[in-house]
Amino acid sequence: MPLLAAIEDGFKRSGVLNGAKIAMSIHLEAKTARLARLFARSGATVYATGSNPLSTQDDVCAALVKSGVTVFAAHNASADEYQEHLINALAIRPNVFIDDGGEFISIIEERGINEWPRLIGGCEETTTGVNRLRARAKSGLLSVPMYNVNDAKCKRLFDNRYGTGQSAWDAIMRTTNLCVAGSIVVVGGYGWCGKGVAQRAKALGARRVIITEVDPVAALEAAMEGFEVMPMAEAAPLGDFFITVTGCRDIIGERVFDRLKDGAVLANAGHFDVEVNVAALRKTAKAVFIARENIEGFELSNGRTVYLLAEGRLVNLAAGNGHPVEIMDMSFALQAMCVAEMFTNGHKLPPGLYPVPEEVDSEVAGMKLAGMGIKTDRLTKEQRMYITGR
Ligand code: NAI
Repeated sequence: MPLLAAIEDGFKRSGVLNGAKIAMSIHLEAKTARLARLFARSGATVYATGSNPLSTQDDVCAALVKSGVTVFAAHNASADEYQEHLINALAIRPNVFIDDGGEFISIIEERGINEWPRLIGGCEETTTGVNRLRARAKSGLLSVPMYNVNDAKCKRLFDNRYGTGQSAWDAIMRTTNLCVAGSIVVVGGYGWCGKGVAQRAKALGARRVIITEVDPVAALEAAMEGFEVMPMAEAAPLGDFFITVTGCRDIIGERVFDRLKDGAVLANAGHFDVEVNVAALRKTAKAVFIARENIEGFELSNGRTVYLLAEGRLVNLAAGNGHPVEIMDMSFALQAMCVAEMFTNGHKLPPGLYPVPEEVDSEVAGMKLAGMGIKTDRLTKEQRMYITGR
C-alpha cells in the first residue's frame, strides 16, 4: 500500500501522532491492519476492534497484536461479545477514533461525553455511519467533531463504487461458483455501491441488470445508464442473483419471498444484515440447510429453494476479502490524514459532521496518480483567471 507507506514516512518524520491514543472499529482484515500498524509505528497507542463479527479475521488480529496493537475481536463473536469488544476498545479513552457504521459514537454518546475526557473527535468510514451521524447532528446529539470520510471524493467514487462492485462479485462468484454471464441480476439501490455492482454485473455478461430504487433521481440515472428499473415485487420472479446495497432494511422481505425463482441467490453488500430480512426468511422456510460454506438453502412452502450468502451480512467481507488493496490504500490514506488532522487541529472544531478538507482529497488523488505514472494538465495563470476571476 504505497500511499500508506508514504504517509507513514511523513508521520514518523513529523512526529504528528506521537503520544496519540487511537481507537479503531473497522473490518479487521489485512488492509485495515496496515492502517493500524501505520498509527502504531507513528508513535500512537492503538486499540482495535472489528465492525462486523463475520469480517474479523483471527490471523490478522494475531499479527496485529504482535505489532503492538491491542485487539478486542474474534471471528463470529456473538452479539454480546461483539458489544463487549467495542466497549473494551474504547477503554483506551481515545483522543481520536475511527468508526465504521457508527458503533463507537453510539456508545460514547450513550455513556455521556464526560466519560471521555481526552476525546477530540473521530472519523466515519461508511454511508450507514454517516447517515446515523447526520441524524444525531440534526437532533443536537453529537458532542464531538467527526470527519465524514465516506463522502470524500477519493472514498465514495472509488471505494463504494469500484471497490464494492468488484469485491461483491468476487465474493459471490467464489462462494457460489455460478456463472454470471447470461444471468439476470437484480441490484437493490443505485447509490455509489449500487452503481459499481450494476456496472460489474453488466461487464460480467449478465443478460439483464435490473435496478430497484426509491429515489426518482437515482432511478432515472439507472434508466439512462441503460439498466431496467422496476419495483422489487416485479423484479423478484425474474432474478437469478439479488444484491442489496441500500443502507435501508427489508429490501427483500416477506412480501417477495414467495415470488422468488427456484435457485435464486440472495446477497447483501449494505452495511447491516437487515437488507434481506433473514429472520423472516428463517421463519417462512419449511427447512433450512447448509448448502456449502457461506451458503444456506431455504426450502419454501411453494417447493422452491432460495440461497442466502454469508447470513445476509456484507457479502464482500464475510465471504470474501473485501475491497482490492489499491482501493483501500486510497480510503485509508484519507483516514490516516483525517486522524492526524483531527488530533492536531480538531480541538478548534465545534461538535458536528465535517467534510474531509478538499486539500486532503486532492493530495490523495495526486499521490495515487503519481503512483500510477499518470500525468495531468495544470491550469495556466490565464485559465485560472478565466475560471475563478483570481
Ligand atoms: P447511497 O446513499 O449512495 O445509495 C443508497 C441507495 O439506495 C440510494 O440511491 C437510495 O435511494 C437507495 N435506497 C434506499 N432505500 C431503498 C429501498 N428501500 N429500496 C430501493 N432502494 C433504496 O449509499 P452507498 O454509498 O451506495 O452505500 C449503500 C450501503 O452500502 C450502505 O449501507 C453503506 O454503508 C454500505 N457500504 C458497503 C460497502 C461494502 O464494502 N460492502 C462499502 C461502502 C458502503
